[in-house]
Amino acid sequence: MRILVTGGAGFIGSHLVEELLRRGDTVAILDDFSSGKREHVPEGVTLFTSSVVDTAAREAILDFRPEAVIHLAAQIDVRQSMEHPLHDTTINVLGTVNVLTACAEAGAGQVIFASSGGTVYGESDVIPTPEDHPNAPLSFYGAAKRAGEIYGMMVAAQHPMLFTALRYGNVYGPRQDPHGEAGVVAIFCSRLFGHEPLAIHGDGEQTRDYVFVTDVVAANCAALDARAPGIFNIGTGLETSVNALYGVIARRCGGPETAAHDAAKPGEQRRSCIDISRARDVLHWTPRVSLADGIDATAAFFQMKHDLSSQHAH
Ligand SMILES: NC(=O)c1ccc[n+]([C@@H]2O[C@H](COP(=O)([O-])OP(=O)(O)OC[C@H]3O[C@@H](n4cnc5c(N)ncnc54)[C@H](O)[C@@H]3O)[C@@H](O)[C@H]2O)c1
Repeated sequence: MRILVTGGAGFIGSHLVEELLRRGDTVAILDDFSSGKREHVPEGVTLFTSSVVDTAAREAILDFRPEAVIHLAAQIDVRQSMEHPLHDTTINVLGTVNVLTACAEAGAGQVIFASSGGTVYGESDVIPTPEDHPNAPLSFYGAAKRAGEIYGMMVAAQHPMLFTALRYGNVYGPRQDPHGEAGVVAIFCSRLFGHEPLAIHGDGEQTRDYVFVTDVVAANCAALDARAPGIFNIGTGLETSVNALYGVIARRCGGPETAAHDAAKPGEQRRSCIDISRARDVLHWTPRVSLADGIDATAAFFQMKHDLSSQHAH
């Protein structure tokens, strides 16, 4: 299949592109490298360097004529979205509309959109939260992801194009950026190996649904294979507190048993855990990597990175 991945040079995108190439798909990446890395672009991939908001992105999609587009490019920082809402909206809403309309014009058969199960529901009264739970996002980021879903369904209703939104839980794994506010697993691993200070925000009893990156890649492939339109939660259905997560990571990385705590982040969601029955039933997808194994693989990556940078320093 001819598949274009926006944001393909990023954390999730780079793992996805590798898997698509392994499957024998013909792949193009569209990325502006605002957080993605050149070294994540493998040989044999067509590269379009452009922002999703630019006309060049539309032209790239028309030029490549993909059969499917997986739209991952985004401003991913929830706190940044609160500080700079127009910037977030420009990339995450206008950029998404630009990609969607170009896909329709190019005759793409399916668009798969990276949405967010951790933010579109807001504080939910049903845990694990199913897809039909009302949406009450607490951030511009979450609102933009919900808007992207609505625009996607609207465009798909008017064209011979399937639209699939995958609402990811908290994705973690090798190559995640340890410097942003997203990606607590990457942050903890990187700080523990670097012997840098680390603090858990608030009491640490806030919960998330942590899903390993290869399981998210498999969900995208399952959505391509099933050609299933609609909205699907992609997580584990398991709720893990930051304190418990820290414990697992500290044991693996050799950190102190308990971490320091600092002030809670205002407006931070207390609980998040998503019901994945629909993805199991319709996409025949199920997460395969346990938290312990996923943390082990992620820690191994950050240990290697740390060892390499200390070798360079000496
Ligand atoms: N990581 C998570 O836990 C998580 C959870 C839910 C949803 N998501 C979504 O998954 C997608 C991928 O996230 P990630 O964690 O791999 O983040 P990432 O920052 O590693 O990847 C985003 C990629 O998009 C590119 N990009 C950003 N703005 C762009 C623009 N204007 N034009 C073109 N390219 C642009 C970046 O350079 C980067 O390569 C995003 O849509 C994100 O919102 C991630």
